[in-house]
Amino acid sequence: MATFRAPRGTRDLLPAEQTAMLRLERIAADLATRYGYRPIETPLFEQAAVFERGVGEVTDVVEKELFRLAPRTEDGEAWALRPEPTAGIVRAYIQHGMQTWPQPVRLTLTGPMFRYDRPQAGRYREFWQFDVEAIGDPGPAVDAELVELGARFYDEAGVKDVKVLLNSIGDGACRPAYIESLKAYFRPHAATLPEVERERLEKNPLRLLDSKDPAMAALNAAAPRITDALCDACREHFDAVQAHLAALGVSFRLEPGLVRGLDYYTRTAFEFYVEGREGQQQALGGGGRYDGLVELLGGRPTPGIGFGLGLDRILLALEEAGTGQVTEPAPVAVVVGADPAATAERLRIATTLRAAGIAARAELGQRKLGKQLEAASRDRAHFAVILGDELADGQVQLRDLEAGTQKAVAVDDLAREVARAQASHRHGAGTAT
Ligand code: HAM
Repeated sequence: MATFRAPRGTRDLLPAEQTAMLRLERIAADLATRYGYRPIETPLFEQAAVFERGVGEVTDVVEKELFRLAPRTEDGEAWALRPEPTAGIVRAYIQHGMQTWPQPVRLTLTGPMFRYDRPQAGRYREFWQFDVEAIGDPGPAVDAELVELGARFYDEAGVKDVKVLLNSIGDGACRPAYIESLKAYFRPHAATLPEVERERLEKNPLRLLDSKDPAMAALNAAAPRITDALCDACREHFDAVQAHLAALGVSFRLEPGLVRGLDYYTRTAFEFYVEGREGQQQALGGGGRYDGLVELLGGRPTPGIGFGLGLDRILLALEEAGTGQVTEPAPVAVVVGADPAATAERLRIATTLRAAGIAARAELGQRKLGKQLEAASRDRAHFAVILGDELADGQVQLRDLEAGTQKAVAVDDLAREVARAQASHRHGAGTAT
């Protein structure tokens, strides 16, 4: 029989990698809480229209990368796996009447996203994002607060030299005229444009600036800049975002070509890159303002801003820098015994320790005591609890494997004794080393 493999573009996160991922998720949850973001989860799939309308029909994410689920006749609905969380969160904001909550509503979600992309290093068909959204605040202060939060996440995760690229892509007042000037600029070159870009010239010309095709680089460099075409309100907002970032000590680089790959953005747009990796389509994270999205999905006009940080790419960056190693949690105690056959007793004592909140493993095999102790050391356990004849008198031997000491302890005191000794030591709990 052919062997089964994980689908192309997906991967198994084996314990060492999953421990590193969980560490990132913990840092994300902790930071989000510190900044006042409340956790939310939305379904992994939604009506496809949520993404088509929210993210935009003429985007890579919807045109090429949407994982559409085969329709089930009894439902007659077209569904798709979520390629990103923002549209689903905004759908939930509207559905649950969150516009009546105190504004802005700050929400955070960390979880898997799905894009039918061409798999390569750092580009997967299932990947994880740390996402935050602040819905109901027109900014500009919240824009800067959010960018600073993103930068702090990389810092706490241990990714060095992360750079913020910043742009404003205008709004409904100034972007239409800019788009016309962009069309006018590209049209004379239409015949020489790659086919995909030629199609986009009329449908969504902003996307041309975002092109991954090297043939577009020179043309894009000389294209009219959105930042030269901002209306007064957008210009004022953009200036204020920069002033707030400066006040927070967040350094950033203005990048007039940064337009982002999703259609819902207005005004502030930003991306995070490892220094020297800009332009390689390897953003560590990105986000921006989406003042029209709530209305577009059927709610009252409500401004919003958020970001999504790619956790897989952060793991890669940590690995490349040689700082990605994590220590997997080790048992505090392993229960071993002189009688190899007495598995029930060992299991019973381990269960008592576990009930008291102590990470414990019982030796469930039937090997000799010496082998059991070797395995306990290999597990990096702090203690071995050794069961022998004295168990009949309610006593066990507690061996401190790190200190090399041993003493008799009453079974009734065992959990307390282990907890006390453990408190004076540190045990690996998935911490970075
Ligand atoms: P995005 O730029 O499409 O934005 O994705 C955010 C991040 O997810 C990227 O910077 C990248 O690190 C990671 N990412 C995207 N695609 C892949 C992939 N195929 N494999 C691995 N990592 C990937 C959004 O998704 C927006 N929802 C962000 C946002 C939130 N804007 C406002 N609120």
